[in-house]
Amino acid sequence: MDRVIKKAKALKGEITPPPDKSISHRAVMFASLAKGDSRIKNFLWAKDPISTINAMKSLGVEIDITDSKEIIVHGKGLYSLKEPDNVIDCGNSGTTIRLLSGIAAGQRFLTVLTGDDSLRYRPMKRIISPLSLMGANIIGRDENRFPPIVIKGGFLRGITYEMPIASAQVKSSILLAALYAKDETTLIQPHKSRDHTERMLKNIGVHININGNTITIYPPKSDLNCFEITIPNDFSSASFFIAGACIVPNSEVLIKNVNLNNTRTGFLEILKKMGANIEVLNITEQAGEPVGDIFVKSSPKLKGITVQGDMIPKLIDEFPVLCVVATQSEGKTIIRDAKDLRVKESDRIKAMTSELRKMGATLEEFEDGVEIEGPCTLIGTEVYSYQDHRIAMALSIAGLIAEGETTIKNAECVDISFPNFYDLLEILQK
Ligand code: S3P
Repeated sequence: MDRVIKKAKALKGEITPPPDKSISHRAVMFASLAKGDSRIKNFLWAKDPISTINAMKSLGVEIDITDSKEIIVHGKGLYSLKEPDNVIDCGNSGTTIRLLSGIAAGQRFLTVLTGDDSLRYRPMKRIISPLSLMGANIIGRDENRFPPIVIKGGFLRGITYEMPIASAQVKSSILLAALYAKDETTLIQPHKSRDHTERMLKNIGVHININGNTITIYPPKSDLNCFEITIPNDFSSASFFIAGACIVPNSEVLIKNVNLNNTRTGFLEILKKMGANIEVLNITEQAGEPVGDIFVKSSPKLKGITVQGDMIPKLIDEFPVLCVVATQSEGKTIIRDAKDLRVKESDRIKAMTSELRKMGATLEEFEDGVEIEGPCTLIGTEVYSYQDHRIAMALSIAGLIAEGETTIKNAECVDISFPNFYDLLEILQK
């Protein structure tokens, strides 16, 4: 599907972004390992978390969906999973395959995990190495680099592991395997990444100590508690409208009930430093996470900024839309230390550099980031999504300020995380 975006006069109104993708995956997985019936409200009904539901069903977990689209997971405990009778297809979802590998590493049966054309080229050595150190038999295609991956787990030992990259998926994979180990596991992260796994496991009774960037997890002595959760809305999905409201003139947008976990909101911190008109209102707590409303107004005086180091994991998924904002900011925006963006759903550094250049932006590409010189006038043209949901949405936001019309090729990939993205854009666009 191609999507044509016209230049917007303003973005105005109130929206509720979709539920958090990271927490949706985790809620289904953790409920599957707990004992008893867990109830999940405000689940993200998008392709990626649906891959997780199907995967857990393949492992024998009973999952019901109510008429109001709530999920009831009938968890039977850590040791209740069954050998799947087929290969598990994780679709496009890195979170599904990597977290599930950690769970599978704890099982004495055989699990084979694969995915779509993008997922089958995403790096898996980052989980295969630590899970092997814990004692799992795990191999992957092309010298353990890529899926399909084959896991025969069980009899795990705890490890102390210095993580080479700050990745919440790798961290979570190891923490899940650690639930099945005979002694504790300690992880040392180079930078803090999103901490939903730590928060959620603690809430269901797992003993976890966190000291700066070091996490120690102890294998549970009793069953994990079942739970009820109402998932907060996704900051990363909200970020497209935050960016849009900043750069489209005459805009005023209120974005409701967004997860404000500070391991996720680096984009907000950076935008404020760039001079954006953003207010955070009505902060409360939901599902063990801070949530609030975000009110954004047009921000005509944005200034370029340098983003690197510790900040990168806190805005890892917002890189594509940050590039768009940078094209409208005075001076240079430099993003470094972000090499991992080359192995996301697409090579996001290459994708944003090539597509924004087509629209007339001035960018220099580095191996680990970009430099963008602004402000510049964008010109509508045909741009390619690389079948990557966040590239499609970021380019759509660029289309709102581009002269004429911008055509996003293969825009249907927004279904991975944000199926009603274009409906909300239409509601806001004046
Ligand atoms: C995620 C972690 C991040 C992020 C991805 C979701 C998660 O990936 O980019 O969209 O749910 O744990 P990495 O851990 O590979 O950085």
